[in-house]
Amino acid sequence: MVELTIDGVRTTVPRGTTVLEAARSMGIVIPTLCYDPGLTPYGACRLCIVEVVKGKRSSLEASCTLPAFDGQVIVTNSERVKKARKIIIELLLSTCPTSKKLQDLASNFGVNEVRFKIKDKGCILCGLCVRYCKEQMQSGGIGFVGRGTSRRVGTAFGDTPDECRNCGGCEWICPVCERACTADSLMNGLCGGCQNYAPVETCTVCIGCSESVGARGHKVY
Ligand code: SF4
Ligand code: SF4
Ligand code: FES
Repeated sequence: MVELTIDGVRTTVPRGTTVLEAARSMGIVIPTLCYDPGLTPYGACRLCIVEVVKGKRSSLEASCTLPAFDGQVIVTNSERVKKARKIIIELLLSTCPTSKKLQDLASNFGVNEVRFKIKDKGCILCGLCVRYCKEQMQSGGIGFVGRGTSRRVGTAFGDTPDECRNCGGCEWICPVCERACTADSLMNGLCGGCQNYAPVETCTVCIGCSESVGARGHKVY
């Protein structure tokens, strides 16, 4: 077991627990986008950052990949953390402005402008779909292709892979494609809108899972 302090409260967790898991076990809410408890942590979105205090200094680290250790001092919601999270949401929105989840996060975190150039890619490269396909379906039909700004999720030669089991899990787990923001126009990348969690459109071709579909339709790779 290891003992650490989170937001001024001491807690004891089994060795190997991450700071995110330790905080959540205490009821502390830390936002995440690329984390799922059933998948290997990936540390891609950085939304889960916390402040790790070391004496008079501190650093911002992703809590989903940060192991808890003895004597660690963590602050989950300092002004520095809140400011950094807002910038991260701005960055994510610039690559995925029609994501309702991101628009709602922006609204909840008080983001009132997107200062980065907007280039809608419909994907925040969180890797949840890739990890789900590989780790839960043992398929590996999809993966990251390309580098740098060309990096994206794809299949070999762009074809439906033979390994695909048509489970739909890659669509289901995607944090940004399940609901599209329905705002007619975005002001500086923000809709500032409704926070209406009702599905915007229901796929008519599937067996009736009632999943809402994103701007690009109900696509299974
Ligand atoms: S639908 Fe195919 S590509 Fe998507 S997670 Fe399932 S097996 Fe993988
Ligand atoms: S398609 Fe969705 S789940 Fe897959 S990497 Fe992009 S944002 Fe993440
Ligand atoms: S949830 Fe930790 S980096 Fe995405």
